[in-house]
Amino acid sequence: MMKKFVFGNPLETEAMTDSRATPGSPAEEAGSVPYLSVSGGSEGESCVLTYDMGERDIIYGLGENVRGINKRGWIYESNCTDDPLHTETRRELYAAHNFFIVDGRERFGVFVDAPQKVTFDFGYENRDGMKITVSPGGFVLYILEGENVREMVKEFRRAIGRSYIPPRWAFGYGQSRWGYLSADDIRQVVREHREKGVPLDSVYMDIDYMERYKDFTVNEETFPDFPRFVREMKEEKIHLVPIIDAGVKIEEGYPVYEEGMKEGYFCKKEDGTEFVGGVWPGRVHFPDMLNEKAREWFGQKYSFLLDQGIDGFWNDMNEPALFYGEDNLDEVFRKLEDYGNQELDIKSFFGMKNLVLGIANRKEDYETFYHQYRGERVRHDRVHNLYGYNMTRAAGEAFEKLKPGERILMFSRASYIGMHRYGGVWTGDNCSWWSHVLMNLQMLPGLNMCGFLYTGADLGGFGANVTEDLLLRWLELGIFTPLMRNHSARTTRRQEFYQFGHTEDFRNVIGLRYGLLPYIYSEFMKAAVTGDMMFLPLAFLYPEDRSAAEVEDQLMVGEAMMIAPVYRQNARGRYVYLPEEMKLYRMRSLDSMDQEILPAGHHYVRAELNEVLVFVRPDQVVPMSQGGCCVEEVDMSRLNLLHFVKTEAVCELYHDDGVSRKIDFEKGITRITVKADGTIKTEGMLDPECCLV
Ligand code: NOJ
Repeated sequence: MMKKFVFGNPLETEAMTDSRATPGSPAEEAGSVPYLSVSGGSEGESCVLTYDMGERDIIYGLGENVRGINKRGWIYESNCTDDPLHTETRRELYAAHNFFIVDGRERFGVFVDAPQKVTFDFGYENRDGMKITVSPGGFVLYILEGENVREMVKEFRRAIGRSYIPPRWAFGYGQSRWGYLSADDIRQVVREHREKGVPLDSVYMDIDYMERYKDFTVNEETFPDFPRFVREMKEEKIHLVPIIDAGVKIEEGYPVYEEGMKEGYFCKKEDGTEFVGGVWPGRVHFPDMLNEKAREWFGQKYSFLLDQGIDGFWNDMNEPALFYGEDNLDEVFRKLEDYGNQELDIKSFFGMKNLVLGIANRKEDYETFYHQYRGERVRHDRVHNLYGYNMTRAAGEAFEKLKPGERILMFSRASYIGMHRYGGVWTGDNCSWWSHVLMNLQMLPGLNMCGFLYTGADLGGFGANVTEDLLLRWLELGIFTPLMRNHSARTTRRQEFYQFGHTEDFRNVIGLRYGLLPYIYSEFMKAAVTGDMMFLPLAFLYPEDRSAAEVEDQLMVGEAMMIAPVYRQNARGRYVYLPEEMKLYRMRSLDSMDQEILPAGHHYVRAELNEVLVFVRPDQVVPMSQGGCCVEEVDMSRLNLLHFVKTEAVCELYHDDGVSRKIDFEKGITRITVKADGTIKTEGMLDPECCLV
């Protein structure tokens, strides 16, 4: 059951698609909001919602954020921000995912549908206090109730619409790096993978493919005859995935800039002139992604690359990230000159340092430009969290027209709930830190709750220098995430697998992903179609188990499987909690795995550097392929079944052509029934030869 409460004059975010979510109780009835006490919120004032948490209350949700699966014990801000240091002191990352569920003394869900900044204090100021502060401006509050957390998530997901579904090839392994400067650089990446037998489906093209970082251009010197290069890669079964940035370079003669100016599609300042910010290309204007016409125009621009054979993109810098706002620069230079004329002491030194560091992503800059939103002029900070969402929506809506019927890969850095219908998200500029492997895992259920199913982190870490063992361990988690991409920053140590010695380990671990593909794809599709989660905290499946509720480093992946990756330096194993008896498969490769049945309870489980732990639940089956060098080559006619059958297990395997937008879910299902005596029956779309392993 979901109730809606309207505060002030909220701006429509289109997070919700379900009309049952409207209309709601008007603001005057705000006093009747269940669970939360409401104060403030009159014109120009923040609104504060509070709740006294029970001692054992757990808070799930908030999507992309730092810290644990249980979000209690920290303060989070929804204020899409480009900051590459994801330490545990961060309050905000790139996304605004304002949905969470409290599970404990009482059970309820909250969605704060507010495009402006919102703060979620879950026991920061006061250990038992929850305090949500919504910055001035109207908003809509949804309160959910339900029998259990999983069902509540499903209800929420029904209301926000079906999650984005990428093409099947996008479940393959992708190699990326900021710094592939030419077609030859990319050819080398592909060659290394193919020659060494390490599977690969995609290579990502970072800003270096463009002509001086201009969107919808290709550098003809470094990428000559681009359509031919795209074809050449397709022959190698490689999809190239270029990046698109939010800012459009200001340059006479550059058609995207000129058209945008002519049509008035860029964000403007109070005086009606275009706002100027600084990003990779230097001075840029920001397309007004909230203006329907501008959005349509920007979306159509993707055809420049689609027409050359491209079938996937990633949208970046769309918080939007600001290196500087131009109007502020004069003042900064003037002050710097002052600093230059004096002896720097403790005060002036730090003053100067903060002045320079503070020019990026300044709150004041975001307050100086405007959008045309549904016929109204709206200041950016009121709708800040909708920018990346609408950039991705621009692309998603355009794809429907430009490539009707076909799935195009799309994921974004900034996001808001609602964007999940148009693309996935990657979780931005993490670091090559062991702690970020765990953070990657801990974010997954929250992201799923908010509708973001197609998701993954930069495997190996974006910033800082990776080590071989860290990369391998991280990939051992990445083989389960829908987006499985190794990406790193320009100045860091290179981290393609072939930079390291143990090729065989990488071939085997990445190979496991291709083995698991039938299961990963099926579970993803089930989650998308039924509004379920693909990654669940243990407590979602074992609600009565108190120990399960405390587990922060294991996840259920779909119905059949639990994962427990190793995420500590030099660890040769780890502690694992089993809520019930399970069968452990210790996998070294598709051909080498051992198995053992473990009773419920706490265990120390060994896992060498090249070993992946997969736990199969009772009466469950996990179908695996024999692998392949790319998704297209995965053979669905011969399956190996991981199994733990006590009476009977029925596995629903989903398969389709991998590209059609139209999903006929029932048609794509194959039911594989395995009995305790080992007999196997299959019925449905596929007729695979199955073998128990
Ligand atoms: C920031 C993105 O988060 C990162 O992935 C990318 O490599 C750089 N921008 C350069 O485009």
